[in-house]
Amino acid sequence: MKIKSIIAGNWKMNKKPSESNAFVNNIMNQVNVNENIEIIFSPSFVCLPFIDKSDKYSIASQNCHWEKDGAFTGEISTNMLVDCNVSYVITGHSERRHIFEESNEMVNSKIKACLNNKLKPILCIGETIEDRNKCLTKEVLSTQIFDSLKGVETLNDIVLAYEPVWAIGTGKTASLTQVGETHKDIKEILLSKYDKIEVDSLQILYGGSVSSSNAEELISLADVHGFLIGGASLDVDSFATIINIVTKNS
Ligand code: PGA
Repeated sequence: MKIKSIIAGNWKMNKKPSESNAFVNNIMNQVNVNENIEIIFSPSFVCLPFIDKSDKYSIASQNCHWEKDGAFTGEISTNMLVDCNVSYVITGHSERRHIFEESNEMVNSKIKACLNNKLKPILCIGETIEDRNKCLTKEVLSTQIFDSLKGVETLNDIVLAYEPVWAIGTGKTASLTQVGETHKDIKEILLSKYDKIEVDSLQILYGGSVSSSNAEELISLADVHGFLIGGASLDVDSFATIINIVTKNS
């Protein structure tokens, strides 16, 4: 089955609102995409109103709160995101889990809020280097998946991103064998709860030091359906090069 590839750029806490739209346009001018690939930009909240609506790319927010509105100083609701043309929300990113102590239960509430508001969550999961060294990777991913997807009956509106914590922003990409084996494990974990058809059509992205030099070999792996990219998404040439590589291979 042909699965549409996703290339998502997570800008994290980088780029100002005033430069965000030109940056997106510069990238779009350098790429030649087809219907087999979806490009997603994930800027900070304050950039959202400045980026043009387009049918050539989608917008993701980097976080959301699970309540519709109320006394939650500093938080952003899914209603507000829909109003800013957002269609995806990154949930459970390792920086949210580790720096801001987000639990699987919080991620679960966010995912449900997204789905209730027709936003697609990009659920990030990944093990630490200690987990991997102790051979706990599959166990850790399994807990993250089942706790984050508690009460979620279908995978139809979910995107998964496997991001080993030790590979994020470190320049240490997981090896092809590690990525290939782990994506296979993720599908096996999901099969114990979801239909084979849904698991087979789920987009599973890899993230962690993806660059223009390793994108080609990573996208050649059977169960890798695109990338969630941090550092390399901040530079026009490198992000456009990765998009063009994936388009050629999709
Ligand atoms: P990186 O970040 O590409 O800079 O490793 C990936 C991510 O945090 O999603």
